[in-house]
Amino acid sequence: MKVIVADDYGMMSKEAAEIVAAEIRKKPDCVLALPTGGTPLGLYAELVRMHKEEGLDFSCVFAFNLDEYIGLPEDHESSYNFYMHDRLFNHVNISRDRIRIPCGLAEDPEEEAAAYEWAIKRAGGIDLAVLGIGRNGHIGFNEPRTEFGSLTRPIYLAKRTIEANARFFQENPDAVPRRAISMGIRTIMNSRKIILLASGVEKSHAVNQTVHGPVTEMVPSSVLQLHPDCTLILDKDAASELEPSPNGFIPGPGIKTMVY
Ligand code: PGA
Repeated sequence: MKVIVADDYGMMSKEAAEIVAAEIRKKPDCVLALPTGGTPLGLYAELVRMHKEEGLDFSCVFAFNLDEYIGLPEDHESSYNFYMHDRLFNHVNISRDRIRIPCGLAEDPEEEAAAYEWAIKRAGGIDLAVLGIGRNGHIGFNEPRTEFGSLTRPIYLAKRTIEANARFFQENPDAVPRRAISMGIRTIMNSRKIILLASGVEKSHAVNQTVHGPVTEMVPSSVLQLHPDCTLILDKDAASELEPSPNGFIPGPGIKTMVY
């Protein structure tokens, strides 16, 4: 597992954007899995800048969201559909028919999830999955105890996740949906390349467990130790609990890369 430690949130976001941009340049019709939440906001702002100032071309890119709440319409301000359009899709030249986000209002969420999993396969599988991480080590909405063999499916959110996400429902924090459709652990692990972003000291424990902990379904992100091409991109606070790498590190300007 490779760990990039950036001096601050801005540099973390730029590092992540460089990796996403490199993937798009290498394979213009690459398939991305994309997260929501507070952490990737800087990444999306940087990708929008790269599109506007450097001509980064999203026209052939396929984008699959990691997850979506069940029960919210697409145009609800707290839906992940709204978030992705507001933060990224409305500002780059991605083709609308290459965007896939689970439908939160699907009559049959099981069927919607199975169709979503199938759509990922039909697109050729995920080339690059971008992940955030919950304080409990969740990735996507795969909460502790999720089976490593899980595929896209409807899930129940953990209490801690509902509390953490209440900040995105300011008008009514009690309105956080209790369910979502999420890519599964196996869906994510099938990606050819994975990057995980984490910022802030409140993520440091989960990050430590991801890198050093036993691989256990109690900490979903620990499964990433088993992926052949996974890079964690952290700011200093998120990296603050990590042991120094026995393999040393490669320093760069404001960045150091460790290999575990
Ligand atoms: P955050 O969420 O980026 O808002 O902290 C990350 C996650 O819960 O996966």
